Amino acid sequence: MNEVIKIEHLKKNFGDNEVLKDVNVTVKQGEVVTIIGSSGSGKSTLLRCINLLEKPTSGKIIYKDTNVLEKGYDLPKYRTHLGMVFQQFNLFNNMNVLDNCTSGQITVLKRSKEEAKAVALKNLEKVGMERFINAKPGQLSGGQKQRVAIARALSMDPDVMLFDEPTSALDPEMVGEVLKTMKDLVDTGLTMVIVTHEMAFARDVSDRIIFMDQGVIAEEGTAEELFGNPKHERTKAFLSRILNPTI
Ligand SMILES: Nc1ncnc2c1ncn2[C@@H]1O[C@H](COP(=O)(O)OP(=O)(O)OP(=O)(O)O)[C@@H](O)[C@H]1O
Ligand SMILES: [Mg+2]
Repeated sequence: MNEVIKIEHLKKNFGDNEVLKDVNVTVKQGEVVTIIGSSGSGKSTLLRCINLLEKPTSGKIIYKDTNVLEKGYDLPKYRTHLGMVFQQFNLFNNMNVLDNCTSGQITVLKRSKEEAKAVALKNLEKVGMERFINAKPGQLSGGQKQRVAIARALSMDPDVMLFDEPTSALDPEMVGEVLKTMKDLVDTGLTMVIVTHEMAFARDVSDRIIFMDQGVIAEEGTAEELFGNPKHERTKAFLSRILNPTI
């Protein structure tokens, strides 16, 4: 399998706060990598460094054999290869569903309106939202908004999709439809990096699970290894907390 993204010795400080301390991650073509860990452990910061919403303090982000942090690298182009889905949807509320899914294609990828529309419709169909093309985000449920956000990201034909807790802001009854949509994407062979607290889902879809703790990767392995036989005390403590919540 080819490596799509390789993170080497990544560090990120916010002032004196060392949020990522020497993080190393490789994501291969077609792999589904899930990141779990307590609040504040650095999961979002890692995703935001991968797509350069945050500038890493040091380290390398190697995309298809080239370090994108080197001077002169075409960063806007790099960003188009990564799709991002956030907890809070981040749709354009003044645009309808179709325009949300075509605007990036037209402005960034320079696609014609017709082509962008065809691509958007294909992806909206994939997430079961093709009947809502004229709706504004405000008219949709949280689950529907998140499915549109996924279709919008897919419409840019990314090499990798990054998801940051895509179901955490949803009412419980909407979580299933979004996880189902993501599971369908997994089945298409898309390369995905997913931050989630949905442990059953993580167990079901992940090729590899990364457990982050205080800015480092404390442990990683297959779902079987991590859930079945966690090696580190911190992993055990986290899993026991999240799998057996007390009141
Ligand atoms: N823009 C920022 N400026 C300053 N500190 C930040 C910033 N973003 C994150 N941090 C700090 O970095 C640490 C890691 O935050 P991060 O959001 O990456 O954690 P997380 O694992 O995603 O947590 P959660 O599960 O709550 O989303 C926290 O201490 C947070 O306060
Ligand atoms: Mg986070």
